[in-house]
Amino acid sequence: MKQKDLSSTSLRRELRTKFIGKNLLYLPVTSSTMDVAKQAVGNGAEEGTIVLADHQTAGRGRLGRRWWAPPESSILLSIILHPKLEELPSLGMVAGLAVAQAIEKVTGLKPVIKWPNDILIGGKKVSGVLIESEVANEAVRSAILGIGLNVNLDPSSMPEIAGTATSLGEALKQEVSRLEVLRALLGEFEELYSALRHGEPIHRLWSCRLETLGQQVTVKSGDEVHQGYAESIDEQGNLLLRCPDGSIKTIVAGEVTLRT
Ligand code: BTN
Repeated sequence: MKQKDLSSTSLRRELRTKFIGKNLLYLPVTSSTMDVAKQAVGNGAEEGTIVLADHQTAGRGRLGRRWWAPPESSILLSIILHPKLEELPSLGMVAGLAVAQAIEKVTGLKPVIKWPNDILIGGKKVSGVLIESEVANEAVRSAILGIGLNVNLDPSSMPEIAGTATSLGEALKQEVSRLEVLRALLGEFEELYSALRHGEPIHRLWSCRLETLGQQVTVKSGDEVHQGYAESIDEQGNLLLRCPDGSIKTIVAGEVTLRT
């Protein structure tokens, strides 16, 4: 089924979620859904409000990178949350798992996760997660979770991502319904986020999808570069790296490359 824009009332009508996406802001084009979500937070947006766009003129990714997607090719989504402080480090795991599970449910493909939160198919990136949060006086004022998912784009036609990215359409060699993937994604997200809020150990499920574990890796974290064996993760999703001297280093953020 070919779905052009995502504004259709069927999305609102057919969402099976209780609170994720109940309040939905749709924009045919915007700078970044993160910016719109930030404004919505300023206006008191409730937990679960989503901002959805068919095109971004300044989509952003982790580590100051751009996020590229031709109009109506992808899912470009921000979710506004008000988690507890201790839940904040787990949001990325919830989002990455929700994306992977939704892709698997809708397409049968089996995505893996590259630490910290790139979703890969056939070794290439199909989706990424960005979290921007505001914390004051040891409380989370808001957390905005951005998800970009390449549904029908053709990476070979985009020099910025050719060679490193893929899309569901490319992997399946057929067009995929963005609406169907989005519906599944919001459903999976709500279930996993609710489980997190009930104290369930999300990191266990997440680590089963983590292809980084058990590999010799190089991690660039800020100005530092570490090399070692990706041994495991802790409850917050931090990477536990076994260094050549036998010590364990806890990596909170960074970029991993596999060492051959
Ligand atoms: C990454 O670098 O892997 C994270 C990419 C996150 C991209 C999404 S697209 C929707 C939302 N709006 C943005 O500007 N970025 C996020």
